[in-house]
Amino acid sequence: MKATGIKRVTISNTSEGGGSKGATVAATSAAAARGRLSSRTLLPVALVLGIVLPFLFVRIAFLVLESASSSSCSSPIECRGWRLFSGGYISQKLREELTRALIEVKDDNIVDGGTEGSLETFSELVKEMTSKQQDIKAFAFKTKAMLLGMEQKVQSAKKRELMYWYLASRGVPKSLHCLCLKLAEEYAVNAMARSCLPPPEHVSRLADTSFNHIVLLTDNVLAASVVISSTVENAANPEKLVFHIVTDKKTYSPMHAWFATNRLKSAVVEVKGLHQYDWSQEVNVGVKQMLEIHHLICSHYYNNLKENDLEYGGEHQNFLEALSPSCLSLMNHLRIYIPELFPELNKIVFLDDDVVVQHDISSLWTLDLNGKIVGAVVDSWCGENCCPGRKYKDYLNFSHPVIPSHLDQDRCAWLSGMNIFDLEAWRRSNITTSYHKWLKLSLNSGFTLWQPGVLPPSLLAFQGHVHPIDPLWQVAGLGYRSSSAGGQILEAAAVLHFNGPAKPWLEIGSPEVRSLWSRHVNFTNSFIQKCRVLH
Ligand SMILES: *[C@@H]1O[C@H](CO)[C@@H](O)[C@H](O)[C@H]1NC(C)=O
Ligand SMILES: *[C@@H]1O[C@H](CO)[C@@H](O)[C@H](O)[C@H]1NC(C)=O
Ligand SMILES: *[C@@H]1O[C@H](CO)[C@@H](O)[C@H](O)[C@H]1NC(C)=O
Repeated sequence: MKATGIKRVTISNTSEGGGSKGATVAATSAAAARGRLSSRTLLPVALVLGIVLPFLFVRIAFLVLESASSSSCSSPIECRGWRLFSGGYISQKLREELTRALIEVKDDNIVDGGTEGSLETFSELVKEMTSKQQDIKAFAFKTKAMLLGMEQKVQSAKKRELMYWYLASRGVPKSLHCLCLKLAEEYAVNAMARSCLPPPEHVSRLADTSFNHIVLLTDNVLAASVVISSTVENAANPEKLVFHIVTDKKTYSPMHAWFATNRLKSAVVEVKGLHQYDWSQEVNVGVKQMLEIHHLICSHYYNNLKENDLEYGGEHQNFLEALSPSCLSLMNHLRIYIPELFPELNKIVFLDDDVVVQHDISSLWTLDLNGKIVGAVVDSWCGENCCPGRKYKDYLNFSHPVIPSHLDQDRCAWLSGMNIFDLEAWRRSNITTSYHKWLKLSLNSGFTLWQPGVLPPSLLAFQGHVHPIDPLWQVAGLGYRSSSAGGQILEAAAVLHFNGPAKPWLEIGSPEVRSLWSRHVNFTNSFIQKCRVLH
């Protein structure tokens, strides 16, 4: 290291400020001007630079990481300039001068100037600074360029990580796959697993409207088992409950085998495959068309996502919904056909498969919906203007002329996941027609009307037909990175909804929240053990 490298830094033995470490660095240009840098003072300079600069570097690195995670500061250097130099290593003057120089360096200058000869490591920077005899301004300039480069890398890595996180949610865990295969095998070889569901003496309950009917549309056996056992466990009168599980053809035999071999003492469970329905031609055509359009929407957004430049894209969060497996799931979109699936029922509670029930829900069936069709949580436990889910503008494109202007884009959208439906009122309305009308409009608009997902077309079709229910009926958002709901709210909620990519049966969710769900998994069941579910 050349002695003349950093002209304006010298050693002052009169310790000021945090001088407890012995030698203190002072930016006294006067001392340099005097030109009395003897070989005796050079050694301490080299030592201090060797000690201080790596420290500084490490602190800067930490600060960049820290500020990248706090969204409140646009520029980490300006926000944290003072904290950066608040340690006892550098004297007041150097601190001031460096801070000023760092702030003076404009970010735009860096974009042009910083890329040529960009430095990879801090020691390269020190070498360059000392060999080219540059002053504190140049040092600040290069340091800031490095910092911004690092910050960009951090941001881009965060975006990538978020995307990988969403991608991780697409895979079906090996253990769930195993569970399905083993149960299908059981269905084939064990007559017990094929026995009637429900047993003949209870079949009459399936259409008896004096019972409390719960509908689940799912292709996930483990999830269905958790929904049902948590509901039954917390029910005041489980013998009044009738569960209707509708699943796809490939999941039918494992689902049936599970509930035939894990019979509930009290409640009745029916398992039906879609292939067992004998729908009219009209319904068949409608379902097919609905699925086709949803697939087109998902793949449109999915392809856009891949083409987008990941590094500096911006609006990724919304597009990422296209990666969610629910976007393509037949069972998920089928809910708009509930009145056709259950022609004999009049009032049902619909549960998503990613919920867990924590309290008795029987009062839902006696709830007065005020002539509306769906009862849903709209407002929140978290106060005024704080939505438990998202607002209308987060789902719908309000700059598109087709989206009705009378909808308030800042209003909270109602939550799916746990809804009470008055099927008679639904049949009298034209909601399913209206839903299809919206799907066609979306297709014709080039899919610019809404973000991909199950809810947006339902928000449009059900507008004016929603009866808000107490917010504590459902706390949602447990499948996202951060849930604002605290422990007390989570305990008080009747239903917890793991909407978002981190489904509780995946390994990407937070363990504390997952345990609220996994405590309802029957770990003594031999299939759960054989397939090492959640191990
Ligand atoms: C649904 O019915 C209402 C009146 O009952 C009507 O105003 C509306 O246009 C209908 N919507 C569709 C999509 O047919
Ligand atoms: C929203 O609609 C406007 C007007 O049609 C369109 O220009 C824009 O691209 C749409 N936005 C999205 C995200 O699709
Ligand atoms: C758990 O599974 C075992 C074996 O299938 C069964 O005997 C037991 O009753 C189940 N427990 C619950 C709470 O369902």
